[in-house]
This record gives sequence, C-alpha cells and structure tokens, in this order.
Amino acid sequence: MRAVVLVGGFGTRLQPLTLSTPKPMLPVGHVPIIERLVANLARSGVSDVTFALGFKPEPFIEAFPTGECAGVALHYAVEPSPLDTAGAIRFAAEAAGIDDTFVVVNGDVLTDLDVAQLVRFHRDRGAEATLHLIPVADPSSFGVVGLDADGRVERFVEKPAPGTAPSNLVNAGTYILEPSVLQRIPSGEKVSIERVTFPAIAASRGLFGMATDDYWIDTGQPELYLQANLDVLAGLRRNDRSVAVHADASVDGTAVIDHALIGPGAIVGKDAVVRRSVVLPGAVIGDRATVTDSMVMGRIGNDAVAAACVIGASGVVAAGEDVQAERRPQPIAK
Ligand code: GDD
Ligand code: MG
Repeated sequence: MRAVVLVGGFGTRLQPLTLSTPKPMLPVGHVPIIERLVANLARSGVSDVTFALGFKPEPFIEAFPTGECAGVALHYAVEPSPLDTAGAIRFAAEAAGIDDTFVVVNGDVLTDLDVAQLVRFHRDRGAEATLHLIPVADPSSFGVVGLDADGRVERFVEKPAPGTAPSNLVNAGTYILEPSVLQRIPSGEKVSIERVTFPAIAASRGLFGMATDDYWIDTGQPELYLQANLDVLAGLRRNDRSVAVHADASVDGTAVIDHALIGPGAIVGKDAVVRRSVVLPGAVIGDRATVTDSMVMGRIGNDAVAAACVIGASGVVAAGEDVQAERRPQPIAK
C-alpha cells in the first residue's frame, strides 16, 4: 500500500527550533520524527511513501539521499506554493500516480497505531474515507467528530470553540482514503481537508472513524515535542526505545542528566544539571548551568539557569543569566 505524508507546514508553534530544521526532521529519541513515523507505516505494510513538501524540502532530500527510509521507497512532491492539507494531498497523490486505496499521515504525529487494522475497518464499512480517532480530555485544538454506533462520522468540526465539541474523540491524523476523495479537491487550489473535504464526505455519509487507545502524540507544540522525547526514553512506545545520551555527545562526568536527552555533537559541561529537557545536536550547556523543562539547540552559558525555555540554533542564554519561559531568538511573528 502507498502513503502520502504531509510535511509541508511551517511548524510555527515550534519556532525558533523550526527556523533551522523543519518540524518532521526534529529528533525524537535521536531519530527524526519522520523516520519514526515512516517506520511505523512500514510495520503496517506500507511500501511506498510520498512526502508532500512545501516549506524547506532540502533537509528531507539530504537526510534520505538513497530515496529510502526504514525500508520504504521515498518520493518527493514539492508544491509550488502551500496548498493546505487537501490541496497538498491531491498534488502529491497525482505526482505519485496513486489510483488505489491509500494512506495519509500528518507528518508531526507519532503513534503505535497498526495501520493495517485501520485499512480493514475501512474496507469492512465500504468507506470513502476513514480516520484514526483518539479520545482526549480537551478536544478544542483538534478536529472533532460526532459518530454513530457503526463508526460513521455524522459531524466533523475542526478546532471547535471550547465547550462546543460534539465529543472527545479527535482526528489523530492518519487517514485511509479512496482515490475518489481526490476528485472532490479542486486541482492546484489551497483547500483544507479538515475544514472542507471531511465535512463534505461526512454529508454524503462516506466518512468513518476508528477509535483506539494506542500511544499517540502530535509533536507540533513545544511541551508535546518535549513529552514525545521523554516518552520514548521512558519506554512508553511499543516498538521504539531511546538512550538518554547519544554515543556522539560529550557529557562531563560530573554533570547530572535526569530524564533528559543529549543529542550527537552536543556538549554538557562540568557540574551542569539537565532535567526533563532535550539538548539537540550541536547544543552547548556550560559548566554549572542548570537546564530544566527546556529544548536547546543553541548555547547556555556557564552558571546560567534556563527553565521552560525553547532555544533555537542561534539562541544564547548568557553566562550567569537566569531565564524562564523564554524563546530565543524570538519567533518570527506570523
Ligand atoms: N504539504 C503541505 N502543504 N503540508 C501541510 C500544509 C501545506 O500547505 N499545511 C499543513 N501541512 C501539514 C503539516 O506539516 C502537518 O504535518 C499536517 O499538515 C497538519 O498540520 P498541523 O499544522 O500540524 O495541524 P494541526 O496539528 O493544527 O491539526 C491537524 O492535526 C490534528 C491531529 O494532530 C488536523 O488534522 C486536526 O484535525 C487533527 O486533530
Ligand atoms: Mg499538528
């Protein structure tokens, strides 16, 4: 089976990390999100993946120079301008010549879902489109469905105002689609699958949803990106594990690394303390610095304290500074 993975978004909520690295190329447990995602598709029988790319295609092409990832053949469809989710799916599916039932995945979602199970559910119901669903406490930042007893989606509402969601079951970002869905999307136009196409398929009674309790996380927000890293370190993923300190990191023997990941090429100095944090490839944590609940690509000076910070590749916390909940450099305003 073939799949389209949507990787063309701007990753705005993860700035400044995404100013230098596109969101799906950020590591979770030292492996790019996209590689963990494709490995899960491969386990479910997907043989070919097309990346629907817009923003910054080069890092993907450079990261997988052989056109292969986790044993799966990769293809690239680069949009001339961002086409939003439905426009991107049509563009990529046409570029790949898809003419049979196919899989679509949001490129920032990590899950242990068995996609083959979603395909069986889709076929059993004769669906035009089937969504993977996950129950969450607050559905307001997701697509939310109202379902009937057979799993048919009666309503699909993207990011409903708090208190107005039809249920707590949300779109988990993995879809099985019939090629007929592509005909519903105007060619070359900017169209949202969540706001336009799914409500239209639901209105013609062809949209279904299958809820599971598999591990699932959307890594698109800083706290959740951090959580995804701590989860793989804690062994919460069915097929994935991670060590805390990468073999190519340089960590002084006196430093404390507590529920934290230190990436390749990163340096952690004498008596530094790093807790519940991700120190990304190439970052520098100075002597006696304390880093908690943070993501760091840049430099933390000697004796500095950084709590709940997101420090991009050119971000610096100066020696002796004490900062909380800062993003450096400042994200670019939208
Ligand atoms: N190629 C391309 N072109 N990809 C795009 C574009 C585009 O113009 N716009 C967004 N994407 C990609 C993003 O890179 C991401 O992988 C995916 O589409 C979804 O975009 P997000 O920006 O991450 O959306 P979201 O997290 O707010 O909401 C989506 O995911 C939720 C689950 O995590 C929606 O699908 C919700 O309905 C869903 O609940
Ligand atoms: Mg997302």
